[in-house]
Amino acid sequence: AFKGKPPEKKTPVNLKVMKETGKVVNMVDIEDLGDKVSYCRCWRSKKFPLCDGSHNKHNEETGDNVGPLVLKRREA
Ligand code: FES
Repeated sequence: AFKGKPPEKKTPVNLKVMKETGKVVNMVDIEDLGDKVSYCRCWRSKKFPLCDGSHNKHNEETGDNVGPLVLKRREA
């Protein structure tokens, strides 16, 4: 169950990525992943679903602290 103070107003996370679709889902074949790839979690990237560093500007402007999900192959 949710604990703590509820947000005052519910707002969308996604401001402009594929707004014409009912749900943004991105599929990536695991086999196609390189050694390292960063996926956007701030919904501000112009290369969504990949991170393009836009989270830095978003964090500066809003005081947020979001960043990418980085998938990295274990070094052999
Ligand atoms: Fe969104 Fe980096 S641009 S997490």
